[in-house]
Amino acid sequence: MDHDVKNLDLAAEGVKRIEWADNNMPVLRTIRERFEREKPFDGLRMSACLHVTAETANLCRTLTAGGAGLVLCASNPLSTQDDVAAALVAEYGVPTYAIKGEDTDTYYKHIATACDHKPNITMDDGCDLVFALTNDRPEDAAGVMGSLEETTTGVIRLRAMEAKGQLKFPVIAVNDADCKHLFDNRYGTGQSTMDGVIRATDMLVAGKKVVISGYGWCGRGTAMRAAGMGAVVIVTEVNPLRALEATMDGYTVMPMIQAARIGDLFITVTGDKSVLRPEHFEAMKDGAIVCNSGHFNVEIDISGLSGLAKTVRKGVRNLVDAYEMPDGRTIYLLAEGRLVNLSAAEGHPASVMDMSFAVQAMTAEWVVTNKGSLEIRVHDVPHEVDEWVAALKLQTMGIEIDRLTDEQVAYLASSDSGT
Ligand code: ADE
Repeated sequence: MDHDVKNLDLAAEGVKRIEWADNNMPVLRTIRERFEREKPFDGLRMSACLHVTAETANLCRTLTAGGAGLVLCASNPLSTQDDVAAALVAEYGVPTYAIKGEDTDTYYKHIATACDHKPNITMDDGCDLVFALTNDRPEDAAGVMGSLEETTTGVIRLRAMEAKGQLKFPVIAVNDADCKHLFDNRYGTGQSTMDGVIRATDMLVAGKKVVISGYGWCGRGTAMRAAGMGAVVIVTEVNPLRALEATMDGYTVMPMIQAARIGDLFITVTGDKSVLRPEHFEAMKDGAIVCNSGHFNVEIDISGLSGLAKTVRKGVRNLVDAYEMPDGRTIYLLAEGRLVNLSAAEGHPASVMDMSFAVQAMTAEWVVTNKGSLEIRVHDVPHEVDEWVAALKLQTMGIEIDRLTDEQVAYLASSDSGT
């Protein structure tokens, strides 16, 4: 089987980590067992451009159990877990193209290989595969019946393509499903970002001033976890509603130019570019640590930081580079400004990816069921999928909830009763 991974000898370690993750992915396992019987993807080709992690491997196992002919490539050059990539090839029969630390040419060569597969369904984390199919490979895009997008950044790109009339096939915003962003973006990003910062730096968070830029679901989760560890959290925002929400959640809100002077740790999660720029680096304290947990490595202006530095000492710790300024200050950049949670840690824990990937798998099946009848636009995940995944997740957690009585159902359906 064709593949491009670091070292197939790592497969045994990968299998152990995939099985460990599977223990915490009961909803996805339930779907896998049904797919094994029903084979909803028989005869279909799928290409997935996702972070190659133990959790993604369990999604791959679920899709292939359903009969899909699947090819996987990385959605970020630094997020691949090489042991998992090896296990996918050697143990689970999934042609995988992903090597942690791959250069940009290799990254795009791997995406081109996923296009060569001529997929009927695609899965993306950041829209790079759909972008390549749409712009460079119209002949391969012709066979796509639907495409699923996992992340906020990807959905923003897809909506921009939709507005310009560039979409070539229906796409589904998996990120926007409640079972995805309310849990994965908030609790997953919150925990895994702090995990990545701590693994990279070994810093004590308690008492530190942590500046979080962006108060979307990922920012909310990261602020919550940093505060829970004893940090003094400062939020920067451009959106007045979110700034107000952060204020009422108990955080201090101020412009970045003010926060830059007092922060010990800066975490960008905005989805936009150049959030930390030279004027901010100029203002930062000696020893300030900067990192990013947004999808692309554009949030920190790294060439601006390099331009200011007298010297750059790479790898003063694993995934930590020291930028030494002419005035004697040092600013530390984590994971080259790429997703710190997936580069320096293992990404979101399996039990939250269980819900995200259950939504992916169920939505892929929905695309097949509705083949030919979906308009070419950005679709929401059907509400029934969200409800089903939430109900099963609760059940696997041993949590029961109440049901409406008949009287309550009737009350909600009537407009008669007032005071
Ligand atoms: N995105 C964030 N965490 C992830 C994980 N563990 N696996 C796949 N994609 C992710």
